[in-house]
Amino acid sequence: MKLYHAPASPFVRKVMVLLHEAGAADRVALVPVSGNPLDPGTIPVDRNPLGKIPALEREGGPTLYDSRVITRYLDDLLQAGLYPAAPRLWDTLVIEATGDGIAEAAVLMRYEMHVRPQPSRSPDWAEAQWRKIARALAALEERWISHLSGPVDMGQIAIGCALGYLDFRHADRDWRGAHPTLTGWFASFAARPAMQATAPDA
Ligand code: BEZ
Repeated sequence: MKLYHAPASPFVRKVMVLLHEAGAADRVALVPVSGNPLDPGTIPVDRNPLGKIPALEREGGPTLYDSRVITRYLDDLLQAGLYPAAPRLWDTLVIEATGDGIAEAAVLMRYEMHVRPQPSRSPDWAEAQWRKIARALAALEERWISHLSGPVDMGQIAIGCALGYLDFRHADRDWRGAHPTLTGWFASFAARPAMQATAPDA
């Protein structure tokens, strides 16, 4: 299998953390690519017409995207057990969607303020993305710490990768300030070998 990969992407990182947690990082060849919403660059649009990563090329079937499809596929293939049985599954999926939503808003902020040409940038639009993130962080702090503290699953991995991306690209925002319990959870989750092995370079 080939994974179209960029280490800074929190969505690629979710896939990589799953592979490390499953002890299967060597099952996938990494293909480095780069691109952005203005230019897909080297992202293979013949494999993913949306011009996004991660995309997983495999034998015997079409290339898989997006990250949630890939993680469901790999979890099933590797019997990794990172999606629990229902009813716990529904909480896992909501938490994964919350992590992906935080990451998506944070990546869009990055594109808005660093990729979009200067005269068209909208700080107001970027602030609206941050408000989404702030609401999601508050929901995690108030409602989901008990689940996050349970057996490792894809919900936790998505939140870990999203918070890692906030540290990587939005360190000036101090997401920890109003979220002491989530801060403590992340300190311990980020120490997992799978998270350490996949941290983006500064
Ligand atoms: C970044 O450099 O922040 C980035 C790179 C690839 C995908 C998403 C974000």
